[in-house]
Amino acid sequence: MLSVLCLCLLGLVYQTQAKAVFAHFMVANSANFTRKHWEADIGAAKAAHIDAFALNTGYGGANTTKLLNDAFSVAGSLDFKLFLSLDYSAGGWPEDQVVAYLKNYTTHPAYFKDTPTNEPLVSTFEGYQSMGDWNNIKRKVNVSLIPDWSTKSPQELANNGVVDGLMSWDAWPWGNQPMNTTSDEDYLTALKPHNKPYIMPVSPWFYTDMVRYDKNWVWQGDDLWYERWQQVVQLQPEFVEIITWNDFGESHYIGPIHENELGIFEYGGSPFNYAEGFPHDGWRMFLPYVVEEYKSAGSGVVDDEGVVVWYRLTPGSACPAGQTTGNAESQGQDTMAPGKVLTDRVFFSALLDSQAEVRVSIGGGANDTVQWSDSPKGGGKGLYHGNVEMDNRTGEVVVTVSRSGKFVAQVLGEKITKDCPHKLTNWNAWVGSATTNGSNASTSRASLDESGAAMGSRVLTVLMQMMVVVWVGWFAV
Ligand SMILES: *[C@@H]1O[C@H](CO)[C@@H](O)[C@H](O)[C@H]1NC(C)=O
Ligand SMILES: *[C@@H]1O[C@H](CO)[C@@H](O)[C@H](O)[C@H]1NC(C)=O
Ligand SMILES: *[C@@H]1O[C@H](CO)[C@@H](O)[C@H](O)[C@H]1NC(C)=O
Ligand SMILES: *[C@@H]1O[C@H](CO)[C@@H](O)[C@H](O)[C@H]1NC(C)=O
Ligand SMILES: *[C@@H]1O[C@H](CO)[C@@H](O)[C@H](O)[C@H]1NC(C)=O
Ligand SMILES: *[C@@H]1O[C@H](CO)[C@@H](O)[C@H](O)[C@H]1NC(C)=O
Ligand SMILES: *[C@@H]1O[C@H](CO)[C@@H](O)[C@H](O)[C@H]1NC(C)=O
Ligand SMILES: *[C@@H]1O[C@H](CO)[C@@H](O)[C@H](O)[C@H]1NC(C)=O
Ligand SMILES: *[C@@H]1O[C@H](CO)[C@@H](O)[C@H](O)[C@H]1NC(C)=O
Repeated sequence: MLSVLCLCLLGLVYQTQAKAVFAHFMVANSANFTRKHWEADIGAAKAAHIDAFALNTGYGGANTTKLLNDAFSVAGSLDFKLFLSLDYSAGGWPEDQVVAYLKNYTTHPAYFKDTPTNEPLVSTFEGYQSMGDWNNIKRKVNVSLIPDWSTKSPQELANNGVVDGLMSWDAWPWGNQPMNTTSDEDYLTALKPHNKPYIMPVSPWFYTDMVRYDKNWVWQGDDLWYERWQQVVQLQPEFVEIITWNDFGESHYIGPIHENELGIFEYGGSPFNYAEGFPHDGWRMFLPYVVEEYKSAGSGVVDDEGVVVWYRLTPGSACPAGQTTGNAESQGQDTMAPGKVLTDRVFFSALLDSQAEVRVSIGGGANDTVQWSDSPKGGGKGLYHGNVEMDNRTGEVVVTVSRSGKFVAQVLGEKITKDCPHKLTNWNAWVGSATTNGSNASTSRASLDESGAAMGSRVLTVLMQMMVVVWVGWFAV
């Protein structure tokens, strides 16, 4: 009977696992960061209701200890969390060095703790071949290991005792297929019997062209940033990780672009810098809302109405595609033309108190009313989404949201052009946003609210204490 009680308490603890949203952060791209940069990025992440950065750290990177020391010190002073995501893709990690790094940082108050174990979370990018190291590592330092080991199926990994949870990297669909949750459900199904958490990946875009790494492909973006968050709210995973905060070389950054941060294009041998002049800050605009939707299972609050708009600055047929493919042969996929994957459309999402109208004008032409392709059930408050064909139009893009003739918000977007300054198509997206009062929302929401995660973990601590009492009581008997 007692074991039944304990099981059901375990169930309760599992249920109350504090949800959290992470953003994958490339430490290599922050090589020139000073404390000011860390303050700016952590401030922007907090404003977007992100709980922690997963610090992608390769072994042997320049200045890593100084960077991590600064990052943890700033995070500590701003009440933000960080954890290590060890990148094994470039030469792996020596076991003793993993221990040294974890010992140094997991005791820092700003280090993110997994629940319900309250142990420091450590993740990886790949590194399945080093799985054997982790039994030794965990004997030397207490951590909760939640790796991304995409070379093995979740079924093969979930029951392994060294694994405390799993992350997936399947954030983009195959070619031009719609994004679905088949892969996420595989992970959840494999992990659930073991009460282990899942980190669900969410990404807005993917375009990379780097000769040094032999990478040159696009995966689907288009409506993805909107659609994937709907899937998060519906699936309710334990954790979400945004891929990424600052991976400029793969075009899926949502963080600000600082000077002296884009060295990867030269280092990676890219034919041109495809991130410069392509801000993605607007993609943070609706995060506070969807993050609360996710954490509260559908009770997000709309503070300020606003609209975010994104599109490529050249139609797919205007400039040469070079060797860029849709899908990647190196990932075992059949390839197709990139223009079959990314479509020539202007995409927009609006956060609204109630139904409103959206008009799009390109190059000063017709100012057409566009139907939303998706809107909240019942047409009330929430996120509205849609897109419109470029139709080979060029010039400035103006997206205006209004309600019964009353202005709500407007984005004056960068010009679409058929010029090809780099003689190649830039498949990256330009992103802009505006709120009701005309300001761009991304950096202006400096909320110092306690996050839901922090609240959840307090409830949990109480439950854990109850459990300990039950167990101790049982042994005493
Ligand atoms: C390491 O940091 C120093 C001081 O911030 C900087 O001058 C140097 O360029 C950095 N090294 C690399 C390889 O980025
Ligand atoms: C650990 O911290 C010490 C003291 O700050 C530092 O000297 C050492 O280089 C750090 N080692 C690692 C692996 O971070
Ligand atoms: C891990 O945590 C347990 C319980 O707090 C403690 O007894 C043990 O010494 C820790 N192990 C290491 C390697 O720090
Ligand atoms: C989900 O999408 C993938 C391709 O991205 C596809 O292979 C799979 O069949 C889809 N699942 C369902 C249930 O449609
Ligand atoms: C850091 O700055 C140096 C000097 O300007 C530059 O060469 C390097 O590419 C920068 N690093 C990154 C990661 O951008
Ligand atoms: C399009 O129409 C809206 C709503 O009537 C208006 O506010 C906006 O200024 C117009 N935009 C252009 C570019 O004409
Ligand atoms: C756009 O123009 C190009 C060449 O001028 C043409 O090949 C293509 O079919 C046009 N696309 C659309 C959607 O009209
Ligand atoms: C907000 O807009 C200003 C002026 O257009 C721009 O300099 C700034 O980078 C924008 N910030 C964000 C977060 O979009
Ligand atoms: C405009 O909206 C932003 C974002 O919510 C807010 O921080 C700012 O105070 C507002 N400004 C005015 C003048 O209302």
